Amino acid sequence: MHRRDFIQCVGGGVIFAATAKAAWSAVTGDDVWIAPGQTEPEVRRKALSYAILAPNPHNMQPWLVDLSTPDEVVLRIDPTRLLPVTDPFDRQITIGCGAFIELFCLAAGRLGRRVEVSAFPEGEPDGRLDHRPIARMRLSEGATPAPLFSAITQRRTNRNAHRNAPVSQTQIAELVGAATTEGLLAGGVVQGEVRDKLRDLTLKAMLIEQSDRAANNESADRTFLGAREVAAHPWGIPIRGGNIEWLIGLGVVSRDGLKTPGSLAFKGQTDMMRQTANSTQAYGWIVSSGNRRVHQIAAGRAYARFALKAETLGLAIQPNSQALQEYAAMAGCFRDVHAVLAPKGGRIQMLARIGYADQVPHAPRRGLDPLIRSA
Ligand SMILES: Cc1cc2nc3c(=O)[nH]c(=O)nc-3n(C[C@H](O)[C@H](O)[C@H](O)COP(=O)(O)O)c2cc1C
Repeated sequence: MHRRDFIQCVGGGVIFAATAKAAWSAVTGDDVWIAPGQTEPEVRRKALSYAILAPNPHNMQPWLVDLSTPDEVVLRIDPTRLLPVTDPFDRQITIGCGAFIELFCLAAGRLGRRVEVSAFPEGEPDGRLDHRPIARMRLSEGATPAPLFSAITQRRTNRNAHRNAPVSQTQIAELVGAATTEGLLAGGVVQGEVRDKLRDLTLKAMLIEQSDRAANNESADRTFLGAREVAAHPWGIPIRGGNIEWLIGLGVVSRDGLKTPGSLAFKGQTDMMRQTANSTQAYGWIVSSGNRRVHQIAAGRAYARFALKAETLGLAIQPNSQALQEYAAMAGCFRDVHAVLAPKGGRIQMLARIGYADQVPHAPRRGLDPLIRSA
């Protein structure tokens, strides 16, 4: 098959953007999105059934929870579920923990519980995360408003190209309002020079990442291809549904292909990067005053609210994290994106593209039981 035919047969180059047409509800990893916690007898487990739906890097779901003390949840990291190449200091993994905490608090609030969160109660690790708790969360009686709660089961990361429909300044202001908190600055842009610079910069960073063998392999090894493989691995990035299923069946799209420059799968992914970047309508970002672990947790909590708010506004959202990553090949993009969005200092923790796009299915989750672990 020639590349042109390949691209045409999968619809304009968006080969890895899954369609929402197929029904996935028969698969266990997808069931977690339907009435989370309904059959759970205990309030912490009910709230945790929502927390596992948090956005998190590469869908690694790196969370371990200790429930051995009543009315308390201790969150630790699973050291086997990190991203050592593209996230060498576990910054993004920590942001994913912040998102988990935020969803836990929203769900607990809806269940009539207040949550007191102590982040890194035994100290903040510097280089890499370690066995010490990421957070201790204590529950007590008392209703808490949880306005974004109902968006939790609707939210998803949408990697599709955007329709040519503008996002308004008012919508961006709502997203920024949902994310802003002490020590964090959220922002956004819907048109003009900064938006166009971000299109170029995010694309450049994606292409650098794709051409860096170690970084690209880290992603490819965490990408599952086709309904059967995804069902067997309810984590990582799922690629399934529509035309892609038979391309996978024919071996035209394979994990080896994703790792091999020049292959149809590799080039198809490059095309997708160009198409998504060039179609992007708006960007939003979250900048913290420093880069301590507590800033990363706060950024994760803020991003969760940002993404939930986007869902309530009918907007598609996808983080574009490559330019923010801390490995050698990315140093130039890292410097450039900070010069554009944080010229007076601060650390960009999240950068996401925002627009209107065809809906995608949810990414599966492993469920709650594999996460429960006493220290
Ligand atoms: C810190 C962080 C960085 C992320 N970076 C990217 C990214 O660069 N590209 C992307 O497509 N998704 C990115 N995501 C989204 C995750 O891949 C996504 O949340 C995960 O696969 C689960 O899917 P869901 O959000 O649809 O539930 C990121 C999420 C977080 C929390």
